[in-house]
Parts: sequence; structure tokens; C-alpha cells
Amino acid sequence: MKHPEIEKRIKELLSKMTLEEKVGQLHQSGGSLVGAFDLTFEEIMTMVEDGRITEEEGRKMLSNAKHDWHEDDLRAGRIGSYLNVIGAEEMNRLQRIAVEETRLGIPLINGFDVIHGFRTIAPIPLAESCAWEPDLWQRTARMSAEEASAAGVHMTFSPMVDVSKDPRWGRIAESAGEDAMLNGLYGEAKVKGYQTNDLTRHDALAACVKHFAAYGAAEGGRDYNRVDMSPQRFEEEYLPSYERAVKAGARAVMPAFNDLSGVPCSVNKKLLTDILRKRWGFDGMTISDANAIAECINHGIAADRKDAARQALNAGMDVDMTSGCFLDHVKELVEAGEVSMDKLDEAVKNILRLKFELGLFVDPYRSNAEQEKAAILTPAHLALAREAAQKSMVLLKNDGLLPLKAGLRIGLAGKLAFERDEMCGTWAGNYQAGDCKSVQDGLDTEGISYQAVTEDHPLPDCDVFLCAIGERKAESGEAASRASLELTKEDIALLKRLKESGKPVVAVVFAGRPLCLGPAVECADAILMAWHPGAEAGPAILDILFGRVNPSAKLTASFPAATGQCPTLYYDHIHTGRPAGKFKYTSKYLDAPVEPLFPFGFGLSYTSYQYTDISAVQTEKGIHAEITVQNIGERDGNEIVQCFFRDPVAQRVRPVRKLAAFEKVALQPGESKRIAFDIPKAALGYYDQDMNFVIDDGLIEIHIGGNVRDTLQADVHFIQK
Ligand code: BGC
Repeated sequence: MKHPEIEKRIKELLSKMTLEEKVGQLHQSGGSLVGAFDLTFEEIMTMVEDGRITEEEGRKMLSNAKHDWHEDDLRAGRIGSYLNVIGAEEMNRLQRIAVEETRLGIPLINGFDVIHGFRTIAPIPLAESCAWEPDLWQRTARMSAEEASAAGVHMTFSPMVDVSKDPRWGRIAESAGEDAMLNGLYGEAKVKGYQTNDLTRHDALAACVKHFAAYGAAEGGRDYNRVDMSPQRFEEEYLPSYERAVKAGARAVMPAFNDLSGVPCSVNKKLLTDILRKRWGFDGMTISDANAIAECINHGIAADRKDAARQALNAGMDVDMTSGCFLDHVKELVEAGEVSMDKLDEAVKNILRLKFELGLFVDPYRSNAEQEKAAILTPAHLALAREAAQKSMVLLKNDGLLPLKAGLRIGLAGKLAFERDEMCGTWAGNYQAGDCKSVQDGLDTEGISYQAVTEDHPLPDCDVFLCAIGERKAESGEAASRASLELTKEDIALLKRLKESGKPVVAVVFAGRPLCLGPAVECADAILMAWHPGAEAGPAILDILFGRVNPSAKLTASFPAATGQCPTLYYDHIHTGRPAGKFKYTSKYLDAPVEPLFPFGFGLSYTSYQYTDISAVQTEKGIHAEITVQNIGERDGNEIVQCFFRDPVAQRVRPVRKLAAFEKVALQPGESKRIAFDIPKAALGYYDQDMNFVIDDGLIEIHIGGNVRDTLQADVHFIQK
């Protein structure tokens, strides 16, 4: 929200700025690398890609390199913000140049991808979403902000709220899964956690909502690919999560790499101006994705870099992340009248506004080396990372093997059980080698003896096998799409080998996405979906396996039985005219089921719950539904109660289920609680063929249960009064 005093200051400052200085504010510089054996960043990446060096060697080369922050450009007022400056001292040094050596002394903003932790790494977002706990999401964002801000970061490129219905897409790891409402709630909690309600606080970060919009719908699950969908579907399923995060007060928005129905988001006026600014009243800053403005040439939408700059600025882009198109061409575009001075001023104002809001004009140096050291990896942060990991891991199968009894002799199998750095997952902030604890570390710390399973030795004589399978961190995230979600041959062979021993097997799955876990279901007596759980991976896994913590997480993305089910696997699909059935001519596959292996909302516990007495009635504001949930097992537990609805006769086909509300409820053994949900009328609405928002009179089915497949039903005859 605009503040009159800040608006006055912006106006004064703008009136003193030259055209060149204005253009400089639009440029975010990434710095370039020097000194890595005289190779550029691009050359190192090419060597990694073509296999001349390993990823680890590439990483080492990059970390030995020094950044060239183009200080002469900074002095000349040609840089408005930086990407990825790490360290309070380094940031203060650059900030001092901006403040003391440029003509107008305008401070810099430093942006960094703090996605699920800065040094203390929390579980990947997809994992954390399985906690269904906005308060937890907010607290881990606060933790990230405390650490990153102390290290000179002002803005995080988070939250990502891209609804992700296709697990082939590697970036599903960064999302809250396949549901629109969950992504919105996740985004809202993150924004509040990062920003607090006072951005001038030294431990606050500005949040940047991304990737606007619908990046998660990339065709075929292939990263950066096109997104083409009906305007109705876009409004109903993809847009709401961005809206919720923006309206939670996020001060920046990043347009997506992809094109949306033919227009790249970076030059998409409908998105950047009509929806974002006019409809939602956003007055923060827009910033392109890395190099995305220049990539409009590859999209086939801009003739050259100048044309790309013209289109992006005119569409409503404020900052150019690293492509340099704005820096190189906006001056001539304004002089030629192809971009108006008003348009340029608007962008500059949005950038200056954020700098004022962050308090950078008053206090440009928000931290120092000492504060930075004190802020990271604190006992409180590590405890929070452990809590988040415990609440994120989904128990998918348990034939009574778990929790494990103390004193069992353990056989530890699978490389991932021994690897610390794989636990951090994709986009792990400023992760340093060794920061995470592996399963092996966890066992060592607890003094639990185990024998390692190796390929060339006979299986050790033990009571139970813990078998780590799944993905390494580089196998998910950006540019990590997969055409197959099956387990690797090695994982399947290992599972079979262990099963043949006749000893019980616990499969612990590490991954950044849903995988096809059929072979694990066949071979293992218990399966724990651990995702990439972060700093406290090993300890949190053992907390669950040994029963110190009762698992409560539930899937926020459906798990496929076969890769070919993607992308039609998601829970809120439609029925079609021929819903899948025994009859041949129905909507199904010849060689795979239509149902997921594990449905949305699914997750086991060491206790069990019984649902009874569902009721639903119409109220003035919408629908009121209730259900009784009882803990009928022998342990305390937390059950995530999910409330869905269906509109079975509508003017456009509607999903078979749509999540309307949920509640995480703590229950002692034997205890029962009546859980109530109020579904607002607007949640029942959708867009008709002419894009009118409509709510139907008639039957609304309410389905409540512990996952989308196992629910009780109550009907409401809804009539708008
Ligand atoms: C990603 C963004 C990220 C940016 C800056 C891009 O490749 O798509 O999500 O914020 O890089 O690191």
C-alpha cells in the first residue's frame, strides 16, 4: 500500500534523476565470475553438461571463482539491484559504493533465492506443504528471513505458488503441489513470514511471488515449455494462488519464463498490467526471471534485444534480471518515443518505492559479519528444521513393521542413506557441504549400530533393513524434467535383493517429486516418503521410524502408478462423458490404471481415525459442514481432515472433487472431536462460457475424510437467496 510520505520522497528523487540514472535503476546485475581457471560461468556449465567435469568439480570451480560486480557500472549509476550477493560484508561494500559514490546515493536491493532456508535448510516446499500447516510455513519463512537478511539479502525470490499437476516437471519440488487453495495458503504464509508487517525491520525480507503465471502447467511437464489453457481454467485453477500471495502484501512479483497462450509472460500486458496492477491493485515491483527478457527473441516474439526491452517495459515489467536489454536499449527507446517517459517513470517509482519501504535510504547497511555469524544454524533454527521435516514426511505403507522396536539390528542400504548433501534438495540457498545430517549420521549420533549393505558383499545378518531409494537433489528442480518417473533399475534391484532375504524392509524414499513406487510397495513392508528433508534429515527420519514422532503428513500431489498417467492424474480432474469403468469404451488406459497409486491427501499414522456423522446445511454465507473424527488407535495423533465439494450439474464441467477447507486436529487415543467447516458461497463459483462468474442453484455434494478417496458424503440443495 502506498504511503504518502514515501510517495513524496519518490517524486522529489525522480525529479532529480537523469534518463541514464532512471534506466540504471531498472537493471539487476548478476555479476560475472572471474578467476575460475579463466573460464566463464557459461563455459563451466557447458563442461558440466557435456560431462568433461562432474557437477561437484563444477561447483568447486564456481566457489573458487570471484565475482566481478562491475563496480564501475555501479559507480556510474548503471546498476539498481544485484542478484546473489552473499555475505553482509560484501553487500555492505557494494552498498557503500552505491550510497557514497553515485551522484544520487540511491541504495541497492540484493535479491537471492531463499526458497526453503538460507543456511538452515528446511524440507523442500512440496514436502513442507504436506504438513498442511500455514503456521509452520510462516515460521520456516521467518527463519529463512532471519538468516538471509543477516547475510546481506533484502529480497527473496519466493514464494513460488505455481500449481503443479504434473510430476514430470522438476519444479513441482518448489511448489505446494497440485491444489490451487493449498498453493495460495502456502504463498500467503510465506509472504507473512518473510516480510512481517514491517519491512524496515533488519530481519525482514521482501517477498517476490513467482512465477506469474501458470508456469506449473508447462506442456508435457517439460521445463520452460508453453502453457495453453482456457481462460476459465486459468482463472479458476491457476490464478488464485498468485492473487492470494499478492494480496497478502508481497512487494514483488516475477513473471514466468513460459508463454501463456502464445504471449510470453515477460511481455504479457494482460498479466503484468491488467490483472496484476489494475485488477489486484498491486503497487510493488515486477522483476523478470533470469535473462527472460532477452529470451523473447527465442520465443519468436521479439525481433532483437531492443524490441524485447520495448515490449517488456510497455507490458509492465520494472526490473530486468541480468539480460541487460533494459540497460542497453531503454534510453534510445525513450528518446525515439517508443517507450514513454511516463512508462519509464512508473517502473522507476515501483523500484524506488520498495527501496524506501525496506528502509534502505535510512539504513542501507542492515547487517554485519558478526550478526551474520550469529544468525545462522542456531539451535532454534535446527530444531525448527527438524520439526518441519517430521511434519513433512508421509507414511505411505506400514504392514505393522513401524514403529521399529529399540535394539533391532539394522542393515543400512542405498547410497542416499549415507549422503549428507543430497538431503538439502533443490534451491538450497547458501547451503554448505556437510550442513545436512544423513540417516547414517542420525544412527551414529544415537549410538545405534548398523551394518552397511554393499553390492559386493553378502547381505549382513540383521533384523531389519532400512533402504534409501529415490532421487538425488540435482534430479529435481529447475531444468530437471523427467520423461520417466519409475524407480531406477539399481533401486529396484536393491529392493528385490533385500526382500529375497526374507527380512523386513523399510523403504525411505528421497525425492523432489512423486515417483512410481510400485516396486517399493511390492518389496517393502513400510514406506516413508521423506522427500528432500533438509538439515535435520537423518534425525527426523529416525524420530518417525522409532516412533518418537507419530507421522501426520498427507500428500499434496497424487502419486502415479505409471508415468503415462501424467498429467491427468491430479485429484480435481473432470469425469468426462465416459468415466473410467469396466466397459472398454471408457476413459482409461489399456496398460495402466487411471487411479493414482497413492491419492491426494493420503498419509498413514501410527494410530487410526474413524469418521462418522457427516452433516451439511446451507447458511447465509455458503455451506456449513460438520463431521466427527475419533482416534480409535492407541497413540496421540494429528489428523488432517479434508473437506471437498462437487457441483454435479453445472453450466461447465466441474471437477469431481475440489478442496474447500481442511483442519489439522490433535486427538488423544479414544478422543473424538466434531470438526466444522464453513465454505463461503464464492468458493462454489466458477466461470461460464462467457466468462461470467456464476454460482449454481442445485445439488452440492460435500465429501469429508482423511484423503480424497476415503470420504463420507452429505448433500446440500443449494439455493441462492
Ligand atoms: C528461476 C527463478 C529464480 C531465478 C534467479 C531462474 O532461473 O526460474 O525461479 O528466482 O533464476 O535465481
